[in-house]
Amino acid sequence: MKFYITTPIYYVNDIPHIGHSYTTIAADIMARWKRLNNFDVYFLTGTDEHGAKIAEAAKAKDKKPQELCDEMSTKFREAWKLLNISNDDFIRTTEQRHFIAVENIVQTLFDKGLIFKKKYEGMYCIGCERFFAKKDLDENGCCPFHKTKPILQSEENYFFKLSSFQDALLERITDVNHKEYIDIQPEERRNEIVGKLKLGLEDVSFSRSAIEWGIPLPFDKSQTVYVWVDALINYITAVGYPSDEPKFKKYCPTDVHLMAKDILWFHSVIWPAILMGAQLPLPKTIYSHGFFTLNGNKMSKSLGNVISPQELVENYGVDAARYLAVTLIPFGPDGDISWQGLTLKYNTDLANNLGNLISRTLKMTEKNFNLKIPQAVLNLELVKNVEKNLKETFAYNMDNLQLHKAAESLQDAITLVNVQIETDAPWKLAKTDKNKLAICIYSYLQAIDIIAMHLFSFMPSIAEKIWQITGASGNITDVAKKYFTNGMLPKDGFSVSGADLQIPGILFPRIF
Ligand code: MSP
Repeated sequence: MKFYITTPIYYVNDIPHIGHSYTTIAADIMARWKRLNNFDVYFLTGTDEHGAKIAEAAKAKDKKPQELCDEMSTKFREAWKLLNISNDDFIRTTEQRHFIAVENIVQTLFDKGLIFKKKYEGMYCIGCERFFAKKDLDENGCCPFHKTKPILQSEENYFFKLSSFQDALLERITDVNHKEYIDIQPEERRNEIVGKLKLGLEDVSFSRSAIEWGIPLPFDKSQTVYVWVDALINYITAVGYPSDEPKFKKYCPTDVHLMAKDILWFHSVIWPAILMGAQLPLPKTIYSHGFFTLNGNKMSKSLGNVISPQELVENYGVDAARYLAVTLIPFGPDGDISWQGLTLKYNTDLANNLGNLISRTLKMTEKNFNLKIPQAVLNLELVKNVEKNLKETFAYNMDNLQLHKAAESLQDAITLVNVQIETDAPWKLAKTDKNKLAICIYSYLQAIDIIAMHLFSFMPSIAEKIWQITGASGNITDVAKKYFTNGMLPKDGFSVSGADLQIPGILFPRIF
């Protein structure tokens, strides 16, 4: 089975911040989880490099647009490397392969009579790279996202007959039994889209005559393709459209387009309409998470309150940064974050709960069994309880992109073992019943291994480290792939009696 997941391609007028990181880490967690479940995954991210916004940003810095794009696109690549993002491809809209795909799609739509020329006047927000109807502006006549006044633009452009797709879109978005059903998540956002769709669709401008920084229309080189159309097409360029048919057939349709609510309309209305027009497969799920604010404020360069991926990693380490970014607020609604909130969650979930479990288990083994896994039968009850806890909730929540809930069930499983340790009181057993102590420790280690396999998608390096510390045999991903397929514990457990353990050091030093 295949799984094709995408993030938005990010504008290169801004440096990567925690907002972009949030979506990218979430997509990475999904991609890793699906790989562990034996899916053939294609995980795409990249940069959106054309349009007025980028041209203006380059001009302000006295640079050529391409120069700015090269520089900024590299920053995104570096940020994703730092955050241990496992993308299979990184697309840039200034690449040759993308020009070919865009020209191909736009020509196809033109040949089908879906693109026509028209004079148009409207209010354009450069921040959003889109026209706004008066009714969609805020009470001050400003863009609801950027709070700036859109500019009046009047041009003769090519338009796409979006209005002719209203019924087809409504059917595909509302009828779960439709063979091309598009599942827009979460439900409240789907309802918003459906509500807006029912009000009717206007044709949209597909080209710009005044903007040179873009891909020229193949049938009228005096105009460039509207940046949003150019950008959306990246999702098929990357999987081989139009030249690599086997690859395209293998990965399309897209399984999940992930993004925040700001760009959901483009993905759930304009993008499917383009695909339908070109008779290409429609995405299966479009998932929009919320927008987060920092201490109640919108993050912005001008307010100087942007958290960078580098700062996150400096404070918490890569793995904890990944974990915290996606679990601090529920995945879906808007939420507010703060450094205090991040640190509190770090201390609670990682330093106290997980870190404590590993360190006390290892210390007990060091003290009583010279850091070797003792010979013992397994207390299956503890292992089964941990498995039950995770099986009931973890996979379901992961598959439904409820990452914060999946993380909660992981924490519950960790707590379960910590509580069991309190109940067993191994420090007393050390004096009274060494056999029972061996059984306990052996079982804690197996439980920790199961937890590590589930933790892997969130914290790949830490999970691998835990796997080594507990003396578990084989490579964690190979073992997890088997375990997630057959759900069976190996006969001798994951950490086998006699194996050497490693002193963990402090995995998560407490932060004050
Ligand atoms: N270039 C377009 C997307 C084209 S996709 C075909 C674009 N780029 S963007 O750089 O502005 O990125 C927007 C996306 O970044 C959001 O949809 C979201 O995924 C992420 N986020 C940016 N700031 C965010 C928050 N404050 N909170 C949550 N996500 C944020 O739009």
